Amino acid sequence: MQIKSAKFIKSSARADECPVTTLPEYAFIGRSNVGKSSLINMLTNHSKLAKTSGRPGKTQLINHFLINETWYLVDLPGYGYAKVSKELREKFDKLITYYIMKRANLRCVFVLVDSRIPPQPIDISFMNNLGENNIPFCIVFTKCDKQSKNQIQKMFAVYKKELLNYWEELPNCFFTSSESKMGREELMEFIEEHNQLK
Ligand code: GTP
Ligand code: MG
Repeated sequence: MQIKSAKFIKSSARADECPVTTLPEYAFIGRSNVGKSSLINMLTNHSKLAKTSGRPGKTQLINHFLINETWYLVDLPGYGYAKVSKELREKFDKLITYYIMKRANLRCVFVLVDSRIPPQPIDISFMNNLGENNIPFCIVFTKCDKQSKNQIQKMFAVYKKELLNYWEELPNCFFTSSESKMGREELMEFIEEHNQLK
């Protein structure tokens, strides 16, 4: 799929302020600094569409981007960042939960995890929650340019083992880098297929 247009539409402080639409939508979720905003820029070939930062806690609202006038990418705040205040963390968690539970046009949640970090309880429990609520999700391993293939395989084996403790099958997994554009084709293909469902 070619990106013909990518437009920022709106930042929402609450799930019920999100654009009213039935167009398919895909959300990027994960711990702060994992690379959600960078991946949106990589997929859309726009270096500054979503705001990125080396400092965790950059994205604080639900941001909607309309792609090719026909589907949405959504950038969310990170979860679980220890250095933001407890109130702010609770606010983000609530925002994310309401958004996921209420958004009828949400086709799939991409849960981003850093390819250098072994499975963390917060990510596993987030994925388990999605599964228990029948919300379709994929795992996206980020920053693969910082790891050797061998290291990525090793880390993936640990993830597999961990997830298969809870589930019979693994979700779709993507290996990506916003620096090298690794995984772009695969993610775009997945989105294209899911745009056509229903
Ligand atoms: P919050 O909005 O704070 O939740 O963070 P985020 O998940 O949106 O992360 P963001 O895209 O802002 O990236 C965080 C940092 O990681 C930035 O310094 C990026 O340049 C860097 N980064 C993101 N993706 C990659 C990648 O694939 N490779 C490398 N080497 N660095 C990356
Ligand atoms: Mg961000």
